[in-house]
Amino acid sequence: MGRVLDGKVAIVTGAAGPMGLAAAQALAADGARLALVDLPGARLDAAAQALGGDGAPFACDLAQPEAAAALAQRVTDALGRVDILVNNAGVLSNAKSQATDYNEWRRVLAVNLDAAFLLARAVIPAMKERRWGRIINTSSLASKTGGLTAGTAYSVSKGALSALTFSLARELAAHGVTVNAIAPAYVRTPMVTEQLTESQRQALLAQIPVGRFCEPEEFGHAVRFLAAPLSGFITGEVLDLNGGLQMD
Ligand SMILES: NC(=O)c1ccc[n+]([C@@H]2O[C@H](COP(=O)([O-])OP(=O)(O)OC[C@H]3O[C@@H](n4cnc5c(N)ncnc54)[C@H](O)[C@@H]3O)[C@@H](O)[C@H]2O)c1
Repeated sequence: MGRVLDGKVAIVTGAAGPMGLAAAQALAADGARLALVDLPGARLDAAAQALGGDGAPFACDLAQPEAAAALAQRVTDALGRVDILVNNAGVLSNAKSQATDYNEWRRVLAVNLDAAFLLARAVIPAMKERRWGRIINTSSLASKTGGLTAGTAYSVSKGALSALTFSLARELAAHGVTVNAIAPAYVRTPMVTEQLTESQRQALLAQIPVGRFCEPEEFGHAVRFLAAPLSGFITGEVLDLNGGLQMD
């Protein structure tokens, strides 16, 4: 029996990280071929190896606007098309306003927001032409809370990414292209395990009703769900993935 994403090509950015890799593997399980995008290096090569024949590495520094804008064409030249875009690359900053200079602000916004916009803009025309597409953005609980531990630039970048999700969803709804976001909180990745102190981790665990951190595979499952053909009536949604930390 065919799989629901057979014949589809998906770009996953930040694919060398645990969440991006889990998303790529979940989409591959449904039949998609993957363009795995991340900074050049051994982690990206390892991600491509983990995907086997289902994924090809595309080294790219998404902080460079020209490189981000050109990426969709690189993928289309190599894999023939782009049906699914998962904007998942991100950089964390825990600096609050007074510790955030302009360079830090731009560093975070460039990757978390600008690259997502530039990539989406590049893939949209062909998606509209085929009347099918999925854009899935990795936002964050920080977009709603102001950042429990996350800093100013990061929280703003994720809030703007949710707003970009709404704007594109409205623009593209009539063209068969859905645009959604996932707002995770505290997925068990180096962002959580290395960038928080042990006392911060314990305090957070005490607050999360589910009583544990999120697993990358649970994020991958959410991506797979939103990418599925049967999710075509869901657009402009920001799907919470936070173990009940915030209910709204
Ligand atoms: N870990 C969490 O608890 C959590 C919570 C909410 C949201 N998120 C978001 O989930 C996404 C994935 O996070 P993660 O925890 O897997 O982090 P991670 O740091 O392991 O992965 C992020 C990936 O993005 C890549 N990246 C960073 N800058 C890049 C650039 N300039 N060009 C290309 N690639 C670049 C990194 O190399 C890395 O592989 C991020 O957008 C993050 O903000 C994570």
